[in-house]
Amino acid sequence: MNIQWYPGHMTKARRAMQEDIKLIDLIIELVDARVPLSSRNPDIDQLGKGKARLILLNKADMADERRSEAWMSWLKAQGFYVVKVNSRTGAGLKQINAAVQEACREKIERDRRRGILNRPVRAMVVGIPNVGKSTFINSFAGKACAKTGNKPGVTKGNQWIRLSRTLELLDTPGILWPRFEDQQVGLRLAFIGSINDEILQKEELAAELICFLMKSYPDALKARYGEAVREEAAPSGEPVSHPEELKRAYRVLEGIAEARGCLTKGNGRDTSKAASILLDDFRSGRLGRITLELPPEQGEEK
Ligand code: G4P
Repeated sequence: MNIQWYPGHMTKARRAMQEDIKLIDLIIELVDARVPLSSRNPDIDQLGKGKARLILLNKADMADERRSEAWMSWLKAQGFYVVKVNSRTGAGLKQINAAVQEACREKIERDRRRGILNRPVRAMVVGIPNVGKSTFINSFAGKACAKTGNKPGVTKGNQWIRLSRTLELLDTPGILWPRFEDQQVGLRLAFIGSINDEILQKEELAAELICFLMKSYPDALKARYGEAVREEAAPSGEPVSHPEELKRAYRVLEGIAEARGCLTKGNGRDTSKAASILLDDFRSGRLGRITLELPPEQGEEK
């Protein structure tokens, strides 16, 4: 499957972000804990050069806990500060203030040496669409937050949200664009629903997801769809070619159609409907907590 998506406003967004980044001390980068690498754009490393960085593994509630721990260690080893959060419920948000202080320790100490006390850290939230930036800002800032007035130099409409004595947040998140040079990245973003399904072949997408699940989470399929997929979804033990794997995946899709009673008019199995059910089950967490990729050192998952 060839996934292509070039948002036209990319250059404009990048320019706006470059301007906004000049105003801040810290970048809070949200990534999706199920795809911590595929959901980040490495251009942020260049854009945010010289700024402290805190990475939030958002939607941690949907990710595989063991894999999240592996990601935390890996990201920390790359020099980032990292916190796992669930922006929907607010879990993990309490740890952010301490992480911010830690990430900005140099700036805080520099201020102190210059006799500047209590100047809040200014932060900006960035991330690709759908990682949860708005949800995060709403939960983190809460209802009690006070917006400070417009300040010179801030893009029109942008305001600072004063979160505490020590932290101010730019109220508009910076939108990064995902990278599609690697088709695996495109696929993973499509699995989690971050690419418009209308431009994708749903059955093909579902079959690719099944291939991944058969290898990494075979029990998830069996637990959800039962007998109808049991045999096909079992790990074969033998390495098989991707076309072979896809053939099996389509048979699993037929099994899902059977398990869910999806029939076409001619009484055949409606695999298109089954594909929608599978993708929907995955995206809403009904297949369990699943992380689609491992840190590079632990082997890329294809
Ligand atoms: P964005 O600004 O980065 O584009 O993302 P946004 O906040 O709109 O969030 C995208 C979707 O992700 C929303 O779901 C939101 O509720 C969900 N979300 C955000 N953070 C978390 C999290 O930590 N855990 C989980 N499980 N979900 C999260 P939606 O279905 O598009 O909208 P809604 O049903 O919440 O209204």
